[in-house]
Amino acid sequence: MPATDSPQVHVSRTEDVAVLTLDNPPVNALAERLLVALDQRLRELDTSSLRAIVIVGAGDTFVAGADIERLQRLASGHAPGGPSLGDLLNRIEGSTVPVVAAIDRHALGGGLELAMSCHYRVATQRARLGLPELGLGLIPGAGGTQRLPRLIGVTDAAEMMLTSKPVDAATAHDRGLVDLVVEDAKDLQSQAIAFARDVAPEPPVAALLRQDRLPAGAELTNALDATRSLAAKRFRNVAFPTLCVEAIVAGIEQGGAAGLAVERSRFEQALRDEPAQAMIHLFFAERAARKVPGVTDREFPERPRGKIGVIGGGTMGSGIATALLNASLDVCLVEVDADACDAARNRVAGFIQRAVDKGRISATQAAKRLAALSTSADLQALRDRDVVIEAATEDVALKQALFQQVEGIASRSALLVTNTSTIDIAHLGGKLESPARLLGMHFFSPAHIMPLVEVIRTKDTEPAAVAAALDLCKQLRKTPVTVGNCPGFLVNRVFMPYGQLAGFAIDRGVHPYHLDRVMYDFGMPMGPCRVSDLAGIDVGVAAGQILDSAYAKRAYRSPLRRLLADAGRIGQKAGAGHYLYENGKAIHDADLDAYVEAARAQQGHPSAEKFADEDLVDLLLLGVVNEASRIVEDGIVVRPSDIDVAVCAGMGFPRYRGGPLHWADRHGSQWVVDRLQHFADRFELPLLQPTEHLKAVASAGTPLLAAG
Ligand code: COA
Repeated sequence: MPATDSPQVHVSRTEDVAVLTLDNPPVNALAERLLVALDQRLRELDTSSLRAIVIVGAGDTFVAGADIERLQRLASGHAPGGPSLGDLLNRIEGSTVPVVAAIDRHALGGGLELAMSCHYRVATQRARLGLPELGLGLIPGAGGTQRLPRLIGVTDAAEMMLTSKPVDAATAHDRGLVDLVVEDAKDLQSQAIAFARDVAPEPPVAALLRQDRLPAGAELTNALDATRSLAAKRFRNVAFPTLCVEAIVAGIEQGGAAGLAVERSRFEQALRDEPAQAMIHLFFAERAARKVPGVTDREFPERPRGKIGVIGGGTMGSGIATALLNASLDVCLVEVDADACDAARNRVAGFIQRAVDKGRISATQAAKRLAALSTSADLQALRDRDVVIEAATEDVALKQALFQQVEGIASRSALLVTNTSTIDIAHLGGKLESPARLLGMHFFSPAHIMPLVEVIRTKDTEPAAVAAALDLCKQLRKTPVTVGNCPGFLVNRVFMPYGQLAGFAIDRGVHPYHLDRVMYDFGMPMGPCRVSDLAGIDVGVAAGQILDSAYAKRAYRSPLRRLLADAGRIGQKAGAGHYLYENGKAIHDADLDAYVEAARAQQGHPSAEKFADEDLVDLLLLGVVNEASRIVEDGIVVRPSDIDVAVCAGMGFPRYRGGPLHWADRHGSQWVVDRLQHFADRFELPLLQPTEHLKAVASAGTPLLAAG
């Protein structure tokens, strides 16, 4: 099927079966014009001469969902154009001849809703079916909350919606969502047509009218209790999961038609709410972040990257090795001696075993992954590696020496990567013959779990090397954000003021536990003191010193963390930091007050300030926004939205708030400047002095995300 400029629906006939092919590259999203075309083609069909209808996607995907850009326009108040998807699907379901959905690759969101309005579903083995709307702060809005429970039961349906996780064709078949799985994708259409002919004599059954999979009595109560507790476990501070459950319940209690009406009203409510706008912003920001001008718009010769070397098997190196093994890559890990090699191997094995314990992979898969790991105490083992990732101790001389040796050992085309979180990468490349192939890939700990990788290029790094690093991130299913070289790179630099201002607030009388609760309630996974305990206070103090000296003119450092570290309270790993730890649980400790008092004494007993909870949130986050504006001004990021992507993926900033710049833009750039100025005047902190860039953006009336 040739690619088309505008969404189209092609109609063809194989004897008495009509085939409608939805054609809207790249993923057949249900754009307005596609809906108009589908509506029209369906009306034009003469069903009296038809035995069945097959709906298929052009290219290799069925339909990846409603058009998210259209949803974004609707959310900002634009009137909907074209037929309503819900009405269109009801008409398909009401067809007098059976309609069969032929699904390859993705049937997601509106795509699965379309497939469920068809009377049967035939899918390729590689197909994935899901309702990921909650991942966008929405709920299914075209019958998904009604038809899915009727097809596969309430518990499985609710789980698919609340987790946003698609299922594969085999699982969908087991659960009754798919009627036939086709082995070879090229046979999809012919097998769907044959299937349609076979089932055609039976009158088509509408999913919306089915009752056989819906539980009743105690079984229903249990299913709904489990659904509500899953929603409570996965989400906080947001209404959309509850709206989704309400729509499911309404359909069960009042019937499918009433359920559709409730679903529609709840969908519209979710669409207008802040989380949907924030999460849709992130959807597009994440895709934009993969595009790096001068890199991803160019073609480079394919660079081999199947064999990877990792230097250093500590927590970071082992985590990186695990992430690589999880992506089926061949890994050679180099450590200083045989004991360190064994320790690294055990660490990696432990990480992989945890995935087995959690049921994510089988023991056979785990064994296969571990078999792809070799270890050596000799750098010569890196001779045949396509990429070498250095994750040694944060010591400039050591890293420089390592890279010099590796340059002489590995092939001339091997990519040289450092995982440093603090050291100037240009400095590491200073003694290399070919610094063009050196760059940073800053993984976040634990590296096999956290999605973010900062890809750091120096002024010497060649675009082909950046392209290869981005390809590697894709293979690892990581979220890459490409940044320039500066102390702290992106995330650690924008979050530097967050930690500093947390210390400032504590020095000014805010209790650490109160501060943690306020930031947790805002939506952070944990407050700043708890994070500091988790990362290691000793590590934080060392990294803080590097950042403080790099940005000395605006650094504020409370003595509290150093006092705790000096007393051996270096965080969770030592059983004590700001909190005490018992079996991994953080417990309040009255002894902390003495350290807080000592820190305040060292600062000359500054007057205690009264902070409303909202002031604390603004203080800490505006420090972040101010530093983010410096990063934009310095050209460290390709575009401002990259900051939101990185902070959500790297710091667990709540996605339903869209990242610090989206959060700031909801208040408006002038508010940001005024509020920063207010804090800067009140506390006389250079850190809070609004940047010239911010002031210019505010006076132009531009959102921060739109300012380059
Ligand atoms: N609406 C509008 N555009 C969409 C879209 C949708 N539902 N799904 C994908 N796209 C666009 C992307 O923005 C991207 O555009 P770009 O090339 O201009 O950046 C392009 O299609 C390719 O998508 P991408 O995500 O880069 O491709 P992929 O192969 O990595 O992933 C999917 C494919 C389908 C898994 C992924 O795009 C996806 O999850 N889409 C959204 C599914 C969804 O949430 N549907 C429910 C909507 S309510």
